[in-house]
Amino acid sequence: MSRTIIALDFSNKEEVMNFLKDFKEPVYVKIGMELTYACGLDMVREVKEMGHKIFLDLKLHDIPNTVKGGMKNLAKLGVDIVNCHCAGGIEMMKAAKQGILEGTPEGQEPAKLIGVTILTSTSKEMMNEELGIEGEVIDTVIRYAKNAKAAGLDGVVCSVHEAKAIHEACGADFLTVTPGIRLAGNSVDDQKRVATPSFAKEQGCDMIVVGRSITKAADPYATYCQIEEEMN
Ligand code: C5P
Repeated sequence: MSRTIIALDFSNKEEVMNFLKDFKEPVYVKIGMELTYACGLDMVREVKEMGHKIFLDLKLHDIPNTVKGGMKNLAKLGVDIVNCHCAGGIEMMKAAKQGILEGTPEGQEPAKLIGVTILTSTSKEMMNEELGIEGEVIDTVIRYAKNAKAAGLDGVVCSVHEAKAIHEACGADFLTVTPGIRLAGNSVDDQKRVATPSFAKEQGCDMIVVGRSITKAADPYATYCQIEEEMN
């Protein structure tokens, strides 16, 4: 299965279908807030029916009981990966996991649950000055990853630059899913901690999330294939 997850950051069904029509084989896609809030969860069902694997990126963050209830309903969709913010704490992450286990239809594999550490759009200055978290980004990322592991999560979302340290702290089988990927020469946009696919591979990232570098490419399918080749 592919190690590249394509972020379907579109606002309507037409754009999604137009984009996916060039992808002849099943791929891994990420459906996030933009598409879900525009088209609802029916979009998830539809893309799943096309045979694609789905990372449902809704980044839950609320009191434990609410997150548990939310995850229970998301688990019914039969998606492959879901996530919540590590900043919600260990009890909330445990509740998220419990919700998935309770909501997964009998006989189906529960979705993997990964925790969002520090967003790749966050710089050290912003973390220190706006969020009031002292120190280096990596220290908070590792703390959050360890909490995620303690709560029974399968892995985390982190930047490529943190994947190696997370594997050292949490084990080789603890999944690292890394956005903030840019091909050499591409615009960085709003991302701060970016890296190329080859560097991601070198750092031991298990899966990469790629949005604009693929969706805005002149030939998205060819770009996807090129990235997959670099990753494998
Ligand atoms: O277009 P680009 O490749 O920057 O898209 C990255 C995707 O990964 C977006 O959908 C964004 O929401 C998501 N993401 C991220 N940083 C995180 C978690 C998720 O960029 N820490």
